[in-house]
Order: sequence, then structure tokens, then C-alpha cells
Amino acid sequence: MNSIAVCFVCLGNICRSPSAEAVMLHQVGRARLSDKIVVDSAGTGDWHIGQPPDERAQRAARKRGYDLSPLRGRQVSRGDFARFDLLIAMDDANAAALTEMCPAEYRDKIRLLMEFASRDDSRVVADPYFGGDEGFERVLDQCEDACEGLLRALRAQLVA
Ligand code: 4NP
Repeated sequence: MNSIAVCFVCLGNICRSPSAEAVMLHQVGRARLSDKIVVDSAGTGDWHIGQPPDERAQRAARKRGYDLSPLRGRQVSRGDFARFDLLIAMDDANAAALTEMCPAEYRDKIRLLMEFASRDDSRVVADPYFGGDEGFERVLDQCEDACEGLLRALRAQLVA
């Protein structure tokens, strides 16, 4: 495969998936693969379309050197299933919502982010929206872990 496009998906596209997008973009850039791997994010819900990421997510990310400020919320569309090679859900509800709207031929593009983690054995990235700052730190820890594994998997596909 010559290039790969991945889209991270959560509920609102203002906390978890933009965090995953920024972490992955950073890792892809560091690996000098920015011309081969396209990274985006979206939400299954429509409440935060056009909005910047949650302030708490931005603050936690900024402390680790990730800038979420240019990102804006958008909702998953049916066209995304053709456009992206992988749609990577943060939790089971996100994966179920994706599966429901996904044309049958593309269902195997839907994965859970934490499948790619190696240090943290949680199944999902929990929604931090109604909790405290520690939830946002945990989201970043999980994204950093899982994106390393995802990048390894994508590299293998690029050379295959
Ligand atoms: P996210 O977090 O899915 O990680 O972006 C949420 C953002 C907003 C809401 C829920 C979760 N909300 O209920 O508005």
C-alpha cells in the first residue's frame, strides 16, 4: 500500500478523537511519514460541529506539546467509509454507531483504538467529558500507547 488514511472517532469530536489525532500526527511526523499517512477525526454526534476541542483537552494536550487549537468538530459522514482505510473508535458505543451507518462492504475498516495498545490493557478510551482533569491525562496516556502500536501496524502495511 502506498498511502493510508485513518480517522479517529468518538462521540463529540471535542475530547478523545482530536487528542488521538494530534498524538498520531505528532508520531507520524516524527517517523517522517506525513506524506504517506493521512490522519483525521470525527464524532458520531452532531452537537459540537465547528467547535474547537474542549478547553480541558486542549490544556492537557498543550502540556505534552500537542496543539489541538486548529482542530474543529465534525460529524462522521457516509463518505468517510470509502475515504478512510481505518475508522478507529474510542469505545464500543462509537464502534456500534459506526457499524450501524457503515455500508456492509466497509465494515472491516472499523476498529477499536485500544486494540493497538501494548502497555494498557483497557478495551476502550473512556469518555472524560463529565469527569475531572485526570480523565484527560488518561486519554492522552492511552492515545500515546495505542498510536505507537497503530503506527507500527501501518508501517507494516506500507511496506507490504
Ligand atoms: P468526546 O467527549 O466524545 O471524547 O468528544 C464528549 C464530548 C461531548 C459530549 C460527550 C462526550 N457531550 O455530551 O456533549
